[in-house]
Amino acid sequence: MNIRTVSTTPFNDQKPGTSGLRKSVKVFQKPNYLENFVQSIFDTLDGCEGQTLVLGGDGRYYNRQAIQIILKMAAANRIGRILVGRGGILSTPAASCIIRQYKAFGGIILSASHNPGGPEGDFGIKYNITNGGPAPEKVTEAIYDRSQKINSYKILDAPDVNLDKLAVLRLGEMAVEVIDPVEPYARLMESLFDFDGIRSLLSGGQFRMCMDSLHAVTGPYAKEIFENRLGAPAGTVINGTPLEDFGGGHPDPNLVYAHELVDILYGDDAPDFGAASDGDGDRNMILGRKFFVTPSDSLAILTANANLVPGYKERLAGVARSMPTSAAVDRVADKLNIDCYETPTGWKFFGNLLDAGKATLCGEESFGTGSDHVREKDGLWAVLFWLNILAVRGESVEEIVRSHWQTYGRNFYSRHDYEEVDKERASELMESLRDRLGEIKNKQFGFSQVDYADDFSYTDPVDGSISQKQGIRIGFTDGSRIVYRLSGTGTKGATLRVYLESYESDASKHDVDTQEALKPLINLAEEIAQIRQFTDRDAPTVIT
Ligand code: G1P
Ligand code: ZN
Repeated sequence: MNIRTVSTTPFNDQKPGTSGLRKSVKVFQKPNYLENFVQSIFDTLDGCEGQTLVLGGDGRYYNRQAIQIILKMAAANRIGRILVGRGGILSTPAASCIIRQYKAFGGIILSASHNPGGPEGDFGIKYNITNGGPAPEKVTEAIYDRSQKINSYKILDAPDVNLDKLAVLRLGEMAVEVIDPVEPYARLMESLFDFDGIRSLLSGGQFRMCMDSLHAVTGPYAKEIFENRLGAPAGTVINGTPLEDFGGGHPDPNLVYAHELVDILYGDDAPDFGAASDGDGDRNMILGRKFFVTPSDSLAILTANANLVPGYKERLAGVARSMPTSAAVDRVADKLNIDCYETPTGWKFFGNLLDAGKATLCGEESFGTGSDHVREKDGLWAVLFWLNILAVRGESVEEIVRSHWQTYGRNFYSRHDYEEVDKERASELMESLRDRLGEIKNKQFGFSQVDYADDFSYTDPVDGSISQKQGIRIGFTDGSRIVYRLSGTGTKGATLRVYLESYESDASKHDVDTQEALKPLINLAEEIAQIRQFTDRDAPTVIT
């Protein structure tokens, strides 16, 4: 078979964001766009010749075409073997699990996570390293640098590979193994959780759950794990068939986009437990009957109850959370006398801490929770963790959360997103805040006295690398906090995220509605940053 060298010119917009390169499908379909980026990955990976790589994606539109292109380019670039999920499918956590189980050199994951799919939607690609986690910034920077100089790529002239049957095939000199995307992951879950206990809970007829896969990648994983292995009744998993456009929905598990599940859990005769996951299966939302668990609280509760779960019993070395995530878990870490790390937004910052054994559990306010079992956040893992806790404690989700607040106090928390706002104006808003940090420090706004105001900078405790400008934080002396940052995953205009948090130790005040409790802080966030003026918006697009 013939290896072709195709000449090309750089695209100036191939800088990976919070989680890989994410663009609209239309951009990825431009001639050479995907090829340039993939060749830049291969050119950057020292010693990848003859090695094993893992390849798969969340099944969204353009997944199959992209996989065929990447396979042929991998063969032309002398990769030894590719493990590809059947149908081109691998959830992000499953890809991480498979890279680790097979001791692969790395993996290429095709996903735009929670962004909508279809011909008019988004697509994405990212590279994960040997530990199974997203490439750190020095690798993504190197890939970007290469993409700015690229002048040719290599591709094998060959017919498409049949991805739909488990098989070991050859593509030129390279082996292609089409593997079961679910089995290795399901086995890992069985090794961590008390499947017998969860099976008794789910098949006993008393307890009912509903898992909404939002027509995204977790459908086959959730059916295998909850319905086949754990005995939950058929129909427990809804929207369980992955579709290329996610059925036209927005595959983001939050109160706005997972409204079908929310209606079920807040309706008459609601089940006891509800959960949803996102496009590529790394996010999770947890609901009880008529009750929402914030992701920040969820991380804190998993940490506080880790001793009830076989895979984590007496094993927590530390926890890590992204900076905008609430400090609820800090209080638990304090009580357990374990370290708590605060990292910039994005899962890639947890990798070193997990590898070094400094953190065991980690999480983000953006519906992401995970542990050292893989190097990605993991939606179904979080659902199983909750089920394990529920099986042991025999209490409702709401009872568990409320008793947690009683012990630790409640961190009221909300994120206000202003999506698709003008990019320049959004940058101006951030710049203006940055310029005024000195003036904001020590200032008094009404009853609120500023305690600190800075632009978050992180020094990785393992390799000493420094990441700057990770979000403007304004903390007040009463423990409340506002954080402003721009999204690094959006594909249209800019998304301004405003993170709001206050703390209440008095249990008699825990019943207040979150937006009500945060009202003074929401007003302050507007006053300080002039959000309306800069974004031309009266209100956020999404509140979570
Ligand atoms: C968002 C979330 C972040 C998460 C990332 C990938 O990034 O805020 O926590 O790690 O998606 O799922 P952002 O768009 O804010 O840069
Ligand atoms: Zn995701």
